Amino acid sequence: MKNVLVLQSGGPTAAINSTVAGVVERALISEKVEKIYGSIYGIKGLIEDNITEIGEILSSPTELSRLIHTPSAALGSARVRLPEVTAQAEEYKLIFANLEKYNIGYLICIGGNDSMDTVHKLSTYAKEFGIDSVKIMGAPKTIDNDLMKMDHSPGFASAARYVATTFCEIWADIHVYDIPAVTIVEVMGRHTGWLTASASFANTVGKGPDLIYLPEVPFDTARFISDIKSKLEEKSAVLIAVSEGLCHENGKFVSEDEGESKLDAFGHTQLSGTAKILEHAVARELKVKVRSIELNLMQRASATLTSSTDLIESRMLGATSLDRALNGVSGEVSVLNRVSNCPYRIKYSTVPVAEVANLEKTVPREWINTQGNNVNEKMLEYITPLITLEGQELFCNNLPNYLQFIR
Ligand code: F6P
Repeated sequence: MKNVLVLQSGGPTAAINSTVAGVVERALISEKVEKIYGSIYGIKGLIEDNITEIGEILSSPTELSRLIHTPSAALGSARVRLPEVTAQAEEYKLIFANLEKYNIGYLICIGGNDSMDTVHKLSTYAKEFGIDSVKIMGAPKTIDNDLMKMDHSPGFASAARYVATTFCEIWADIHVYDIPAVTIVEVMGRHTGWLTASASFANTVGKGPDLIYLPEVPFDTARFISDIKSKLEEKSAVLIAVSEGLCHENGKFVSEDEGESKLDAFGHTQLSGTAKILEHAVARELKVKVRSIELNLMQRASATLTSSTDLIESRMLGATSLDRALNGVSGEVSVLNRVSNCPYRIKYSTVPVAEVANLEKTVPREWINTQGNNVNEKMLEYITPLITLEGQELFCNNLPNYLQFIR
């Protein structure tokens, strides 16, 4: 019998713990697994021998359910890029020594496109140096929804529900005064606009943004000001969604308009402050009341607005990754793909991790309007089935909606 080790990596989500739960549930019923461990602070835990047993406590259904409904990464996370695979690299020696020390036969790394680089490098190292004692698999997550080879990324739907709900609430607030006012809300998503676009879901109840700007369209400050001016001619309160990753035609982030930004371990610019910079531009150019709001960590940490579909799918993806590892597969990542939209149906499978690592899936240009300042019905069709409320499937017309196969 071998042991399982699970680790969480990259920016947290409200559903990443559900993926740990999926791994644990699958491990608990396997005759091939003895113990279940978690690595503290992602890959760092494996390098520094910071590993803890989690199987015992999580064999309690109450604790497992608590974990599923806990946001952020319960095991801690890291943004660490492993060096290129060579026989000399110290990190790999330490990692594989610890994998051996804890008798790990199955390693599941939950993360986004950067973290899949770790899975790719570890499985390449194992292959190159003939290490067959451990199967290494990825399980996806990111609120950015930018992972290739899958319909959507686990964690996105919950963040999208938070964003759309928050837009409804901001909309209600900004409409109390009958004076011209502009509100600019900044949404996360780094280089892709999926999460910012999810604000449009609030328009299904008439409380969404009037304008939406995504990184997929080069940002032009003069055009932005003129779009707002036109809206102010039609209405007094103008609500705008902007992505943190808005970029000018020359490739420079809008967030860098008022100074340099810092880089993280993966060389990504630490984005934030885009809405504040745009607030300054609006105040300067239009001389109207203007306020900026940065949704910041709340959009990925909210556990009160999770999507039940997201929690279930995240759990299934964890289970799928371990299941494949138990069947001898290594160097792959679990994915989910939409079979039909209405009714919403998906299929789980796995793909080689190299097809996901370090790559980004952007919003298709044809899902954005020609002016580049809003999204169209294609985006709505895509998002709608993902945003679900826990328990809603239990009721129909406020009566119990039981499932029965007999007639
Ligand atoms: O993991 C994705 C993400 O949440 C992005 O949306 C955001 O730009 C980034 O992480 C923030 O990273 P950090 O938590 O390291 O500041």
